[in-house]
Amino acid sequence: MEVISPQRIQPLLFLIIVVLFSIVAFSASGENAAQNTFLRCLLNNSEPSHPILSAIFTTNNDSFSSVLQAHVRNLRFNTSTTRKPFLILTPLHVSHIQASIICAKNHKLLMKIRSGGHDYEGVSYVASQPFFILDMFRLRSIEVDIDSETAWVQTGATLGELYYRIAEKSKTHGFPAGVCPSVGVGGHISGGGYGNMMRKYGLTVDNVIDAQMVDVEGRLLDRKSMGEDLFWAITGGGGSSFGVIIAYKIKLVRVPDTVTVFKVTKTLEQNATDIVYKWQHVAPAISHDLFIRLILDVVNNTQKGTKTGRATFVALFLGDSKSLVSLLNEKFPELGVKLSDSIETSWLRSVLFFADINISEPVEILLDRQPKSLIYLKRKSDYVKKAISRAGLEGISKKMIELDNTVTLYFNPYGGRMSEIPSTASPFPHRAGNLWKIQYQANWNQAGKEFVDHYINNARILHKYMSSFVSKNPRGAFFNYRDFDLGINQNGNNSYTEGRVYGVEYFKNNFERLVKIKTKVDPHNFFRNEQSIPTLPHMTS
Ligand SMILES: Cc1cc2nc3c(=O)[nH]c(=O)nc-3n(C[C@H](O)[C@H](O)[C@H](O)COP(=O)(O)OP(=O)(O)OC[C@H]3O[C@@H](n4cnc5c(N)ncnc54)[C@H](O)[C@@H]3O)c2cc1C
Ligand SMILES: *[C@@H]1O[C@H](CO)[C@@H](O)[C@H](O)[C@H]1NC(C)=O
Ligand SMILES: *[C@@H]1O[C@H](CO)[C@@H](O)[C@H](O)[C@H]1NC(C)=O
Ligand SMILES: *[C@@H]1O[C@H](CO)[C@@H](O)[C@H](O)[C@H]1NC(C)=O
Ligand SMILES: *[C@@H]1O[C@H](CO)[C@@H](O)[C@H](O)[C@H]1NC(C)=O
Ligand SMILES: *[C@@H]1O[C@H](CO)[C@@H](O)[C@H](O)[C@H]1NC(C)=O
Ligand SMILES: *[C@@H]1O[C@H](CO)[C@@H](O)[C@H](O)[C@H]1NC(C)=O
Ligand SMILES: *[C@@H]1O[C@H](CO)[C@@H](O)[C@H](O)[C@H]1NC(C)=O
Repeated sequence: MEVISPQRIQPLLFLIIVVLFSIVAFSASGENAAQNTFLRCLLNNSEPSHPILSAIFTTNNDSFSSVLQAHVRNLRFNTSTTRKPFLILTPLHVSHIQASIICAKNHKLLMKIRSGGHDYEGVSYVASQPFFILDMFRLRSIEVDIDSETAWVQTGATLGELYYRIAEKSKTHGFPAGVCPSVGVGGHISGGGYGNMMRKYGLTVDNVIDAQMVDVEGRLLDRKSMGEDLFWAITGGGGSSFGVIIAYKIKLVRVPDTVTVFKVTKTLEQNATDIVYKWQHVAPAISHDLFIRLILDVVNNTQKGTKTGRATFVALFLGDSKSLVSLLNEKFPELGVKLSDSIETSWLRSVLFFADINISEPVEILLDRQPKSLIYLKRKSDYVKKAISRAGLEGISKKMIELDNTVTLYFNPYGGRMSEIPSTASPFPHRAGNLWKIQYQANWNQAGKEFVDHYINNARILHKYMSSFVSKNPRGAFFNYRDFDLGINQNGNNSYTEGRVYGVEYFKNNFERLVKIKTKVDPHNFFRNEQSIPTLPHMTS
């Protein structure tokens, strides 16, 4: 019979404790075990010349919360009950992205990809099951080449950074992307973004000529090696269904060294209804150089105690103020825009104007990634194909007053270049035949479920009220204005039937082509989220 000597007891006890502990930990949470092996896998799969350790933030890391919150752009998803990722990986090198895909696939972990974090439903940083974030903000180089009028921009850059770097090299070049400078390049371009030069130059994706991405096998691809189908898909179909986009090569566009902006407002008492009625016919048809956004909201009337509707017209004209005023005098005299209303400035400063920043501010403000303040928000969208009658417009104002200014409407006119590009050129389908797009905005700044319910409910009420004025069968929606009300594909279910519901509203007939490409490049649906493109039904396991 063997006698265990006292000297041997200690190490043996230690071993038993370790084994017991790991069994307990494993059975208590298979999740933790998978996450630990994931960590080991990441370390194991990274190149020594590009250490991955400095890219990893676990929940134990002091900076974890600040890295997570740095790109949360909707306070609805900054609550204590919002599920947090178990890890954030902030790649500094392509090999970190490759390792994360290979290891996440091996360990069946859900990856969310985030660039600027502006997704209206927080798709890039929230999930209903355990997940980690691949956060692209440290990959944000921008190389502008004026000779070839192109630029390579990494997806972690913001639009403000991009505009600033272009203007640094040339005062007569710009890029037709979104009006909010803090929006991320990754989500914006892959989702088919638009901005106030869309009537002249089309969408962002109409001006993208190459891309770099990592696919589900961990391969680094460019346009040539990925092929035209996949390139088409990631220029409007959303990057996160297909791979991790590292950079886009964009075609710069020409802008005059002086542009003109204006903002004028009209209340119902100042004949807003008549002017809005006219706007419907003018804004989508006028010179491609002019973009007149219309905002409808509700304000206090000068007569105490009553509310009234207000129309705000915000415009960018690619030309000088004299030409603008004479154009408007001819085509839209009802708006009454005078020389004194119009401001001549540079294209870069017109970005400040549209972002509601004083245009005298230093342009370096465009490099600020952190917005001044954050709010709770909900967005919805619609497309209008037929002008609305005066009675219809009056009804809308009445409804908005009833809803007590909880929902604002943004009308972005189409036409111009948008109507010339075929609806199959990119996954974005809303081209000729659309007069303008509506964005429903509900913004609030009080915490609590009752506010969430109240504002979201009012946005839904107004959206429902608008049914007779907007596109139908299918009712159109803009993919970059993410809206879970259109339906979601439960993570991992990969249901074609569920995916088709939101898919045809966002992409119409282009949805089926997206599904075919998805089925080919990611048949096991690794790249997925609540509204990703599903694979074909017979591929579902
Ligand atoms: C204040 C504000 C203003 C806006 N203004 C405009 C506008 O003027 N025009 C317009 O078109 N849109 C506008 N949007 C919408 C915006 O374009 C979309 O929300 C866009 O998806 C944001 O990109 P992001 O990188 O910041 O978002 P994220 O939340 O980081 O990502 C959005 C989606 O793209 C995916 N994704 C992000 N990066 C990558 C990548 N590198 N590879 C693969 N997938 C990726 C994410 O997984 C997610 O599904 C605005 C949004 C906000 C909040
Ligand atoms: C580390 O990588 C090697 C080769 O890629 C592989 O054989 C090994 O199983 C990996 N180990 C872990 C713990 O992932
Ligand atoms: C947090 O993570 C960063 C990046 O990996 C690392 O440099 C830092 O040392 C970590 N801090 C702590 C307290 O673990
Ligand atoms: C987000 O939540 C954290 C944690 O509760 C909080 O400290 C932070 O201030 C919040 N951010 C904003 C902008 O409210
Ligand atoms: C509104 O329109 C009417 C009729 O066209 C006109 O008489 C009136 O002056 C207008 N009011 C304003 C404030 O422009
Ligand atoms: C509008 O009027 C309401 C009272 O009816 C008041 O509470 C609110 O502060 C007013 N808003 C503005 C912007 O003056
Ligand atoms: C913008 O800034 C300038 C210079 O600081 C200032 O004179 C001007 O009043 C500001 N304009 C507005 C609308 O705040
Ligand atoms: C999708 O998956 C979730 C969780 O696994 C499950 O609760 C839900 O019922 C599934 N939905 C469908 C339509 O199968």
